Amino acid sequence: MIRFSTAGESHGEALTALVSGLPAGVPVDLDFVNRELWRRQQGYGRGGRMKIETDKAHVLSGVRHGQTIGAPIAIEIVNRDWKNWEEKLPVGAGDPAKHQAVASPRPGHADLAGALKYNFPDARYVLERASARETTSRVAAGAFAKLMLRTLGIEVLSHAIRVGRVELERSAAWDEIVAVNAKDEVMLGCVDPATEARMKEEVEEAARTGDTVGGVFEVVVHGVPAGLGTYVNWDERMDGLLAMAVMSLQAVKAVEIGRGVVAAETFGSRVHDPIQYAAEPNGQPTRFTRPQNNAGGIEGGVSNGEDIVVRGYLKPISTLRRPLESVRFDTRASTSASYERSDICVVPAAGVAAEAMVALTIAGLAQQKFGGDSALEMQRNFAGYIEQIRRY
Ligand SMILES: Cc1cc2nc3c(=O)[nH]c(=O)nc-3n(C[C@H](O)[C@H](O)[C@H](O)COP(=O)(O)O)c2cc1C
Repeated sequence: MIRFSTAGESHGEALTALVSGLPAGVPVDLDFVNRELWRRQQGYGRGGRMKIETDKAHVLSGVRHGQTIGAPIAIEIVNRDWKNWEEKLPVGAGDPAKHQAVASPRPGHADLAGALKYNFPDARYVLERASARETTSRVAAGAFAKLMLRTLGIEVLSHAIRVGRVELERSAAWDEIVAVNAKDEVMLGCVDPATEARMKEEVEEAARTGDTVGGVFEVVVHGVPAGLGTYVNWDERMDGLLAMAVMSLQAVKAVEIGRGVVAAETFGSRVHDPIQYAAEPNGQPTRFTRPQNNAGGIEGGVSNGEDIVVRGYLKPISTLRRPLESVRFDTRASTSASYERSDICVVPAAGVAAEAMVALTIAGLAQQKFGGDSALEMQRNFAGYIEQIRRY
């Protein structure tokens, strides 16, 4: 079973991730892991923080001579900003005068709910952990899941399909998604340049007016065979697991599998993906095919052999330069919500974090189905199953 957990505060010394359950012998490309971290930091509309930090994974355990060894993998990502926070947020008691309180909770953030829950006098400790800086650890862990999936020929990528009012009005081909993610400069991660230019205007309007803007990203898993996940128990369904994984990301407020939202308002005859069979001219079997993929590659909680498509809907960021009404924690006096350096739009970055969550979920299901303590054993089991499907 693949398990992972994260620890670390937004302005603490470091973020960490602990991943266990990956087989031994998975080649580890640290440049790839670091590029994943870099991708999470990109996007038009990010705050100043991203300019301070250039995240790098420091692998402490579980990888030797460029390969996983089956042992838990501990990863540390140092916060370069720590030197500015060491006195404000010390591990020891420190000097209370240097504490930097978050005096009035931001509507839409975890500030008020967290302060009430943990009985904190202000929201500093809440935002330190609720912050999406935590997704750095998830992306590091997800990069290892991606490396494992790569040994089975499975890839996970994302792209932006909406920023505010601007929507990509066509589907994106896998090659386009690969190309937009291969760029060394990330704008909004949309495959269509004209739509991306309009998305940029949407972010600019938000920036000009002290506002923020949400959107929708789409994660696509390419190369998954039919048969991962199951319908036999509610908590083993792939769609349910993916929904949990993506919904657990900060600011994601809805998750859609395939065209689930449109499907709810459309007749069944126009929604479901017809089933075809492609045999080679010599009669050799090839595979079941679908002319469209509204199901997003999952039927009955089981992958059906098409690309898996998961969309995440992001609310706008809740830290506003033109803050909303709030109340001071100490006096209860009415005031404006606190403001701290913040992002305006995070659609592409959230897409990268969601890729990590999807990769960890799919890797877990692949590990369950194909098992194996070494990558070689897993690949052999995988190949045997692919052959079984081919001959079905
Ligand atoms: C990649 C990413 C970056 C984010 N950056 C910020 C930010 O700079 N400022 C902010 O207020 N919220 C930011 N958020 C959202 C908050 O972390 C989130 O709204 C908050 O933790 C409350 O959780 P909830 O929105 O899931 O209810 C970001 C979210 C993501 C996915």
